[in-house]
Amino acid sequence: MTLRILFVCLGNICRSPSAEAVFRERLGHLDMHFDSAGTSDWHIGESPDPRAIREGQGRGYDLSPLKGRQITEEDFYLFDYILTMDLSNLKTVTQARPADARAEVALLGRFISDPAPEVPDPYYNNSFGRVFDLLESAADGLRADPPPPRARPG
Ligand code: 4NP
Repeated sequence: MTLRILFVCLGNICRSPSAEAVFRERLGHLDMHFDSAGTSDWHIGESPDPRAIREGQGRGYDLSPLKGRQITEEDFYLFDYILTMDLSNLKTVTQARPADARAEVALLGRFISDPAPEVPDPYYNNSFGRVFDLLESAADGLRADPPPPRARPG
């Protein structure tokens, strides 16, 4: 059964599209589906931030086809896991989660270490290298110990 994971950050132009590209590249050969979304509606339809595209390109990830979107209620029923980048995203998504949702909501950093680190917002401080280091670490952590698919309703 395909494991479906949605990555969520604030804008869906820096961290979560980078996560989507890193996980697709590193785990795409497994039975897993990856997507990303933002909690905000600020960058719907936009390409990822050029700094994220450039950092990704240098590491072998192609972010150029991705486009920003906002998380929807349907996402809570389509995905097994919704993994957020920081505690602010975690709070927003946890509050929006319907009681009968399929998706479990957690910090992506849970696949790096305990306690889980946040993936800090690089938009103003340019910390794109640090973002990709954390994402690659999380991809390796999830590959080593993948979570089980969650029960589908009906
Ligand atoms: P992201 O980064 O949440 O990793 O996509 C940001 C992108 C845009 C803004 C903030 C964070 N913004 O303020 O527009």
